[in-house]
Amino acid sequence: MPMYHCLGSVPHKRHTAFRKPDGGLYAEELVGNKGFVGPSSLLYHVHQPTHVKSVRLVRDMNWNSDPERKFRHRHFRTHQLASGGSITMDRVPLLYNNDVAMLFVQPDREDDFFYRNAQGDEIVFVSDGEGTLETPLGALPFTRGDYLVIPRGIMHRYRFTSSPLRCLVVESTGYVRTPKRYRNEHGQLMESSPYSERDIRKPENLVTKDERGEFKLLVKKESRLHEIVLAWHPFDVIGWDGYYYPWAFNIRDFEPRVGRVHLPPPVHQTFEGDNFVVCSFCPRPYDFDPQAVPVPYNHSNVMSDEVIYYASSDFMSRKGIEYGSVTLHPDGVPHGPHPGRTEASIGAKGTDELAVMLDTFHPLHVSRQALEIEDGEYYRSWLAD
Ligand SMILES: [Fe+2]
Repeated sequence: MPMYHCLGSVPHKRHTAFRKPDGGLYAEELVGNKGFVGPSSLLYHVHQPTHVKSVRLVRDMNWNSDPERKFRHRHFRTHQLASGGSITMDRVPLLYNNDVAMLFVQPDREDDFFYRNAQGDEIVFVSDGEGTLETPLGALPFTRGDYLVIPRGIMHRYRFTSSPLRCLVVESTGYVRTPKRYRNEHGQLMESSPYSERDIRKPENLVTKDERGEFKLLVKKESRLHEIVLAWHPFDVIGWDGYYYPWAFNIRDFEPRVGRVHLPPPVHQTFEGDNFVVCSFCPRPYDFDPQAVPVPYNHSNVMSDEVIYYASSDFMSRKGIEYGSVTLHPDGVPHGPHPGRTEASIGAKGTDELAVMLDTFHPLHVSRQALEIEDGEYYRSWLAD
């Protein structure tokens, strides 16, 4: 996140002796991507973060795709997935390519380990539930509608304060950032951006743990899960500063854009990754020309696969979807409003829709798990026109 943040105690100058009350040195650690040139933070640990007691391979985390590679519009009902398990270990892959993956999880228990994704950044959309994301950099309380953005390499653990929990997870090979066109040359979100730095929540309440023991950390790397046992509690940071940390943004803090006539989906863009974007469709008044057609026109999304997660059962251009539905409109065939939706939208005053869209610039694979919750007739659902 290109916004400086500092919690706890840090030395006046970086890379200088920073002493504990007993005279010993705190252990400095740089955490950032792209080695020493990407966004980074400097952490000061009570103990060396390198105290590893054991390492073992737990399992492979490879995904399998639809063997028939069906080409059609698709609809998946995530609420038909079995619920339960861990928010980090029991995510069900739905759609994926080499740039990005969409997964879904409905956890019913807290993890008794720490987790680090060493192969991707994560955007966790909290569709239901609330709790706290605990990290060595402080805590991020979260609630329904939050996007939690967790850069790769940031160790974390979830604590829940309500149930049920339903989370949509976007795992990104590249760095997840705010769209470049929303930022000025100095990195600040411009006045024209649909959200501002004030809407972005940063870690708070840094608690320093000084505990010896056996602390289990599960690391995802190269689609394999490894267990590392640490000799000291990993949340032993006395202070840190920098630009690399988890952050939260609530979808209801996205200020939707409305025009006299229809504005295209890029006005809803919320995040940018490598070869994909994420957009938020939020409640808003409709376009204000009396003859405006508020629902989108048919479109052929050439060089893009469009995925929508419906965070409410209301969506202006669709029928037959429900809360928790996921639709995939692949490149190669047009899509548009369902029968009757265009006429019905003319003169309407607004929409209560809430949805998260993932647009990828390379084709997506459908996972085998997604096949089990597919509405196989969806591609014919426009026929009644
Ligand atoms: Fe579309």
